[in-house]
Amino acid sequence: KKVLFVTPEFTDLVKVGGLGDVSSALPRALDAHHDIRLLIPGYREVMDSGIPIRIVGKVDGHAALPPCRIGRMDLDDGVIVYIVICPELYERDGTPYSDSQGNDWPDNHIRFARLGLTAAEIAAGNASISWSPELVHANDWPSSLAPAFMAWRKLRTPSVMTVHNLCYQGLFDAACMPELGLPAEQFTPEGFEYYGQISFLKAGLTCANHITAVSRTYAREITEEEHGCGLDGLLRKRAEENQLTGIPNGIDHTWDPANDPHLLCGFREGEWDGKREHARYVEETFGLEQDDGPLFAVVSRLVHQKGIDLTIAIADELVEAGGRMAVIGRGEPKLEEAMRQLALRHPGRIGVNVGFNETDARRMFAGSDFLLMPSRFEPCGLSQMYAQRFGSLPIARRTGGLADTIEDGVTGFLFSEPTEASYLEAVMRAVNVHRHPELLNAMRRKAMGSPLYWQESVKPYDELYQRLLNDKVPATL
Ligand code: ADP
Ligand code: GLC
Repeated sequence: KKVLFVTPEFTDLVKVGGLGDVSSALPRALDAHHDIRLLIPGYREVMDSGIPIRIVGKVDGHAALPPCRIGRMDLDDGVIVYIVICPELYERDGTPYSDSQGNDWPDNHIRFARLGLTAAEIAAGNASISWSPELVHANDWPSSLAPAFMAWRKLRTPSVMTVHNLCYQGLFDAACMPELGLPAEQFTPEGFEYYGQISFLKAGLTCANHITAVSRTYAREITEEEHGCGLDGLLRKRAEENQLTGIPNGIDHTWDPANDPHLLCGFREGEWDGKREHARYVEETFGLEQDDGPLFAVVSRLVHQKGIDLTIAIADELVEAGGRMAVIGRGEPKLEEAMRQLALRHPGRIGVNVGFNETDARRMFAGSDFLLMPSRFEPCGLSQMYAQRFGSLPIARRTGGLADTIEDGVTGFLFSEPTEASYLEAVMRAVNVHRHPELLNAMRRKAMGSPLYWQESVKPYDELYQRLLNDKVPATL
């Protein structure tokens, strides 16, 4: 079946977090059963990647959304990527969402409305390309106007909306409505209005034929007030109608410690010298003293969601217990600064690199004993699975996908409350396991075998696509 997968991130070309990894791996895993093609914005990294782009179509402007051309990129392994080419919107220095100082782009509403509407135009056959999808799969708020425009234009093509993070909603001032050319009659609490603002995510969640969330626990949590971000009522209703499913993320084959070109050497279960070699690398790179104490790693966006403040709060005790900590991450400027200060307070024991580096991240998973992930909420989380695969035991909060992928005391450590005391208790259990090498190694072996590869976990998506295509679902509006 022909599927258009719409996404703001694609790790092959541009990655901010886990959505990029999922967008790179899931379509490849589904490729055996479907003709699945991606649609991404033509960011500078995409346009300058050196991979040839052919112009294959164009779409008209709409309100203040400029017209754009559609490019096509054919990757070496056969993956086809359509690109929304619009230099004035996308070709800038910075991340997909923000400038190099971390401020959101002021025209994000236009940039991502352009992405969503382009998907809808392709589905409607208005993009003058010779291929048209039988189903459209959108991801998170930046692509969620795709199902919305499809429904507003009464297309019969079914749509799926995957929630990777409900907290980012794409909220904009109601005054932007004319610029975006949104249907004013849908600006109601049942439509895309969110307390007086425009919500891109809500538009997608109300209009898509089916919603998925990236783990089973998170699919339940978002129907409850605590994690529902004000959309729990809507999500409860969709769940009652069997239109909300939790489908856990998998990992892709690049996450193989025996065979990863980013690593200094390959290693398998039991070949702990390979882990030691990476521990030495982490010590050198982060200016840490070499000793036999436990080595903790943080590989994370530095944002409130990830509980970075909790890690800062327990850092003194962690060092006191003989631990060392290496941190790589970027995000909110005040958390970046707090991490820098922490390293200054603990020279030789805590090392911090504010930045993004795929090779170092992988070597940290390989070299560390434990990964710290005290997330306040976590839709799925990939880092804990990468750490497990590389023999580093995650210490994480029992929430969302972390609760689903970590078995406490077996493949990692879980704690319940987002408090220092609860977190510290789990960290101290880990320190204790570290004192007993046979226990530590037994847990490492279990952890390394626990994450599922996409090939083993893609079936629910395949079945969902089949069902939606067979149902010939009516338009939701
Ligand atoms: P999220 O998508 O919420 O950030 P995930 O755990 O799903 O969380 O995915 C995070 C991904 O980003 C992982 O692949 C992780 O290794 C990677 N990552 C996060 N921060 C960095 C960084 N500073 N450098 C390299 N990789 C990073
Ligand atoms: C989001 C979530 C993360 C999830 C990722 C991929 O960024 O924060 O938990 O793993 O999307 O689905």
